[in-house]
Amino acid sequence: MTGARPVWTAADVPDQQGRTVVITGANSGLGFETARVFAERGATVVLACRSLERAADAEARIKAAAPDARLAVQELDLASLASVHRAADDLRASHPRIDLLINNAGGLRLRHEVTEDGFELTLATNHLGPFALTGLLLDRLLATPGSRIVTVSSIGHRHGRINFADLHGRRRYLAPAAYFQAKLANLMFTYELQRRLQTTAADTIALAAHPGNASTEFGRDLPSPARFLMSQRLSPLNSWLVQPPQMGALGTLRAATDPKAEGGAYYGPPGLTQFTGHPERVESTARSHDTGVQRRLWQESQRLTGVVYPG
Ligand SMILES: NC(=O)c1ccc[n+]([C@@H]2O[C@H](COP(=O)([O-])OP(=O)(O)OC[C@H]3O[C@@H](n4cnc5c(N)ncnc54)[C@H](OP(=O)(O)O)[C@@H]3O)[C@@H](O)[C@H]2O)c1
Repeated sequence: MTGARPVWTAADVPDQQGRTVVITGANSGLGFETARVFAERGATVVLACRSLERAADAEARIKAAAPDARLAVQELDLASLASVHRAADDLRASHPRIDLLINNAGGLRLRHEVTEDGFELTLATNHLGPFALTGLLLDRLLATPGSRIVTVSSIGHRHGRINFADLHGRRRYLAPAAYFQAKLANLMFTYELQRRLQTTAADTIALAAHPGNASTEFGRDLPSPARFLMSQRLSPLNSWLVQPPQMGALGTLRAATDPKAEGGAYYGPPGLTQFTGHPERVESTARSHDTGVQRRLWQESQRLTGVVYPG
């Protein structure tokens, strides 16, 4: 007799009492749903957000769903190295253990914008900021048994190339190319980080996730036809293309909590398109596994951010 394979759902997230989870971009979309589930399972959840007002609103919404939730807010703008340093200092001072760092925040900028550090904004928000934050919190993570670092990538990584000749799109800026480059960087960061973690005495692991296509605030800057297509208003007509944020967050939750998950694994909706569905371990492109490019990106990220990892 053949039965359907059981699907992984939020109900599979084990009890999280006593654990501390830092989630970037927790006020909206996938980050919010991830935070809500962790709070419901008893974790101390740090909502690391660039707007304290939006974080407070998210805090209230989570409290409404889980009145006993243990929540903290941390101001963090990933597009500012000064803010990343301040946030890392605050987090280290307030949290003796960090069990999970979820590098979730990200987005796509339609126009070329440059941060105060001279970085292209999409690269700064999606990759360089998280690279710096992770490096600054690494010793706290290494000291916490069973800790994990989960970084949210995208099926868009398939179209990405790391353009070392023009990493910041100064000569030519195409928004999709900048975003796909950054999401490829998320995977390359995870794989290189995992290789480095294996050389330490700690059992910390690095994993990646993708949400398929999820109806969040992600498309806020897109032209309205694209926003409409990605919204749930067309449902069930577009249910093959886009799923609710609660489903989109499952890949992150599985990477963060599945006891069987291994370092370097990548979780998200499976299948040919990987647009929707319950998360499974999926493969990323051959390009994402290019160790030469991973190492070069690592060196460049250290140089740009000034955050140098041990080893
Ligand atoms: N939705 C999808 O279909 C999809 C597909 C593939 C990958 N992803 C990835 O999933 C992750 C979450 O996106 P989402 O879909 O949940 O979109 P979202 O609803 O727009 O949430 C993005 C979050 O990132 C935060 N953020 C943006 N810039 C930031 C900065 N400089 N510093 C700190 N936080 C910042 C946003 O804060 P504000 O609210 O203050 O702007 C927001 O909390 C992103 O990494 C995205 O690339 C999404």
